[in-house]
Amino acid sequence: MPNHSRWSRPLLVSMIAVVCAAAAGAASADDAPLPKIAQKKPLKVGFAQTESNNPWRLAETKSFKDIASKCGWQMVMTDANSSAAKQVSDIRSMIAQKVDLLVFPPREEKPLAPVILEAKKANIPVILVDRNVDQSLAVAGKDYITFIGSDFIDQGKRSADWLIKATNGKANIIELEGTTGASAANDRKKGFDDAIASHPDMKIIASQSGDFARDTGRKVMETLLQAHPEVTAVYAHNDEMALGAIAAIKAAGKTPGKDIVLVSIDGTRGALEAVKSGELGADVQSSPFFGPLACDVAQKYAKGEAIPPWVKVSDKFYDKANVEANLKDGY
Ligand code: AHR
Repeated sequence: MPNHSRWSRPLLVSMIAVVCAAAAGAASADDAPLPKIAQKKPLKVGFAQTESNNPWRLAETKSFKDIASKCGWQMVMTDANSSAAKQVSDIRSMIAQKVDLLVFPPREEKPLAPVILEAKKANIPVILVDRNVDQSLAVAGKDYITFIGSDFIDQGKRSADWLIKATNGKANIIELEGTTGASAANDRKKGFDDAIASHPDMKIIASQSGDFARDTGRKVMETLLQAHPEVTAVYAHNDEMALGAIAAIKAAGKTPGKDIVLVSIDGTRGALEAVKSGELGADVQSSPFFGPLACDVAQKYAKGEAIPPWVKVSDKFYDKANVEANLKDGY
């Protein structure tokens, strides 16, 4: 008998729903049209955050708080404290409260898909921001209005392209992955690994999750540095883990930016300062400012305008040459 005791009941229920949906070959609950957004003010909007343990998440939450009154939104906000199961139950409680619109970044691709279908059944429209869900389980434009977010695969590719140039195509790379099962981690890995694969002297010698968190990134890097003293480069799926890795590299008596070259993704203030000092080689931006975009999309949709299934956010790129002039972008 498998031991399920380490999983909470809500997560188990979500996982079973995912398996059932997949087994039925059904991407979505039904072919009913998407729920409409009521044209009223205030509009009760549920925003279910994944966690609040890094500057990126704080900036994202703030962007919703800042836009709320301008957009005529009365916000109901929750924080899942790094638990997909809690995010699922937070969203279920928002559905029970009958919010007018749900907006959230799904922490992981699969466990968060079933609640989208539940919201649709309850006639509550959903906009996903930042991260997406598995499209075999819930479909943008059919089960939810749209996904507003960056091209994570391209972010990984841009990181790889910079690293290949910076190392003349020769490096022993440690990859610090984001949260296991998150679209941001899956796609950033794919974009990077695929680009690296065509360069025989670029070797990914270890790839492990640091859960997008600074201290976890530092600890993972500490262990990997001992196991792989031949490391010459680090690709971190986000800035917090890169900053944790920089601390671990220094603690091991090596110089970040010289002995070990680093590249990461986000554009936080701390990371841009590290690019300026030379400890971090380059940083691909991943904007957290989804509040105004979600407001705009929701208002257009409410008026009956067609919304594409993916509203793509374009991201800047920072290196030594332009970071000084762009420090103000950091958050
Ligand atoms: O989904 C975006 C990622 O999530 C950001 O890169 C990271 O900092 C956050 O936790």
